Amino acid sequence: MNSPRILVAYGSKAGATAGIAEEIGRTLRDDGCDAVVLPADTVTDVSGYDGVVLGGALYAGHWNSKARRCARRNAEQLRHRPLWLFSSGPVDRSADEHDIPPVRGVARRMKKLGAREHITFGGAVMPETSDPVARAMVKHGKGGDFRNPERIRAWAHHIGTELGATD
Ligand SMILES: Cc1cc2nc3c(=O)[nH]c(=O)nc-3n(C[C@H](O)[C@H](O)[C@H](O)COP(=O)(O)O)c2cc1C
Repeated sequence: MNSPRILVAYGSKAGATAGIAEEIGRTLRDDGCDAVVLPADTVTDVSGYDGVVLGGALYAGHWNSKARRCARRNAEQLRHRPLWLFSSGPVDRSADEHDIPPVRGVARRMKKLGAREHITFGGAVMPETSDPVARAMVKHGKGGDFRNPERIRAWAHHIGTELGATD
């Protein structure tokens, strides 16, 4: 059987979600998938993929606009292939401690597109950020990197298995 071809698309403002998408892509490739990782705003056609993973950073309770627009722009094709969504958010351990449901807009989109699953990963706010609000968070001890590579890899393995990766 040919390797399943998977697109991992991400909407990221400061890079943390891009890092999660890269980790998912790496894991899927290790599992024998043909995985491509792309910024969500560059995705105009998903018809060449056997499955799609689309992720977005959370800002003030909303999914990153590039991820939202990507979902809207490609809705017709996304409805007809296996789709997984993820959010990158909490800058604390909460995402590792319990399942965090999707924010309302993402829950609506999941339903509309028939997505198989959604997961919330811990996010990151790093000192080198140029965003003034993020910089203030770091200054007040509310920053840090709460991305959990093990949890990200476990989810990616699970997707690879569902898509029938053979490695
Ligand atoms: C101004 C601001 C608002 C945020 N709002 C939320 C939020 O509503 N919910 C949440 O879980 N995380 C929130 N976060 C954390 C981000 O989602 C987290 O840092 C994410 O990993 C950023 O991804 P990016 O670097 O790809 O843009 C916020 C961060 C900042 C700086």
